[in-house]
Amino acid sequence: MHSRIYLIGFMGSGKTTHGKKIARMMGYDFLDMDEWISEKEGKTIPEIFAEEGESRFRELETAAIKATNQLQQVVIATGGGLPCHGNNMQMLKASGLTIYLKLTPEALLSRLKESKTKRPLLEGKSEEEMFATIREMLTAREPWYNQADMTIDGLGRVNERVVNAIQRQK
Ligand code: S3P
Repeated sequence: MHSRIYLIGFMGSGKTTHGKKIARMMGYDFLDMDEWISEKEGKTIPEIFAEEGESRFRELETAAIKATNQLQQVVIATGGGLPCHGNNMQMLKASGLTIYLKLTPEALLSRLKESKTKRPLLEGKSEEEMFATIREMLTAREPWYNQADMTIDGLGRVNERVVNAIQRQK
């Protein structure tokens, strides 16, 4: 069984929520990369974006991947943009099993509208603007997400399907 499982996918696809449950079901630890970065920097993600810029945040994400290489038996929720910058996707695939939680732009919009997490890339947008941004960004990012070792439908009984798929891989 793979020792490191990376959940990837767009903002709002449920990587953190499902990741915690999947980790519990497998007896693995859980790590949220945004949270790890935020704790290490002593700043929230919106503060890092506002004070240091997106490119600095992307550097911190790459450093976070390197740090996860040392971990064993862990499910890791990545930030939505993480696989789509530099060699990050290759690094994830070299380190463990990558799983894309896939949702339509419509499903992502309905989840993101309700979400309490502050996301600098969607801040201050109307619903229409948010939908347009989701569609554009998803189209741009899917070539990376599609490189995942497996793709799982992000609606319905996601956790069971992910755990079954991981166990089938061995
Ligand atoms: C981002 C997604 C966020 C967070 C940051 C940037 C992105 O994580 O890393 O706001 O570029 O898609 P979630 O996917 O957990 O929302």
